Formats: sequence, structure tokens, C-alpha cells
Amino acid sequence: MTLPPGVEKVLFPEEEIQARIAEVGAEISEAYAGREIKLIAVLKGSIFFLTALAKAVSIPVRLDFLGISSFSSSPRAPGVVRISKDLDEAIEGEDVLLVEDIVDTGLTARYLLQTLASREPNSLAVCTFLDKTPRRLVQVPVRFRCFEIPDRFVVGFGLDYNQLYRNLPYVAVMKP
Ligand code: IMP
Repeated sequence: MTLPPGVEKVLFPEEEIQARIAEVGAEISEAYAGREIKLIAVLKGSIFFLTALAKAVSIPVRLDFLGISSFSSSPRAPGVVRISKDLDEAIEGEDVLLVEDIVDTGLTARYLLQTLASREPNSLAVCTFLDKTPRRLVQVPVRFRCFEIPDRFVVGFGLDYNQLYRNLPYVAVMKP
């Protein structure tokens, strides 16, 4: 397989991703059995994971989206985040799952959890595609995760480098 420029190697091939998402979808369906959930995805990176995950969940699902902008110039140095596109609907009394592409330092997820919690959902949990635990600065209660990854910059399956490579069907590591 020819990899795009700057990409070092494939970390998770497409088949492995789909198989793991099916497992996590089943975990979620079991954990919320008999209930409905609202999946909230953060634009843009999480939509690839969201669509795959939603299809792997067998309980009734509603979807909504949040847009965020970061004040930091580099994804390696996360700063303050701000909501640039709010949810379309209220979440009061609902079982909410925040769907993230990656939890890195945890600052973004913590901010979003605080914001969503103030709207009084019945429950609130995090489901992340990738979990880069070695870089965590603040504790984030990740309830469901597909893969833990080392401290390397990854692209594909929604994750970008300068807005490129989101559409790669696999997750790959960038060259240092
Ligand atoms: P946080 O550090 O957990 O707040 O994550 C901030 C954001 O940085 C994530 O939502 C991603 O958009 C981005 N990010 C962190 N690590 C990577 C990576 O390895 N590849 C692509 N984006 C990343």
C-alpha cells in the first residue's frame, strides 16, 4: 500500500477499526439496554467515528453535533476551547454520550463535559475512538474507548494534519 506523504505507518487497518467499533457498539447497547441515547459528536473529526458507531449500536439513537474552535495555534499545544456551533436540541433528562475522535490532554473533553453537565442530562459519559493516555493533563472519565495509543501524532478515520488525511480509511502515524 502506498502511504500519503509524511505518513510513516498504518497503526490500525480498516478491518480492525470496524471490528473494534462493532465491539464497542455492543458494549454501549448493553450498558444502556432498554433506554434511548443521544450521541453528541464534536465536529469535524468525530463524524467518521460517529457514523460507524451509531450503526453498531442496537438501541434507539438520536444524534446532535457540537462545533468547537481552539484558541491555540497548534494541536500539540491545546489552549482554551469555545463552542462555535451549539447543539440543535436540549439534552435535559436525556442519556448523553459525548463521542470524541481522540482524547489527548483531556482539556477539550473536560470543557465539553462541564458545559454539557450544566444542561442537566439524566446521564453523561464519554466514548472516544482513540485515547492518548500518555499525554493526559486532566482526568477525563472515559467510559468507552476503541483503542489506546502511544504519544504519536496520528491521522485518518476523521483525524487530520492541517485539515488533511481525515478521509483515510485507516489510522496512521505521521513521521516525526
Ligand atoms: P485534547 O488535548 O484532549 O484537548 O485534544 C485536543 C484536540 O487535539 C483533539 O480533539 C484533536 O482534534 C487534536 N489532536 C490531539 N492529538 C491528535 C493526533 O494525534 N492527531 C490529530 N489530532 C489530534
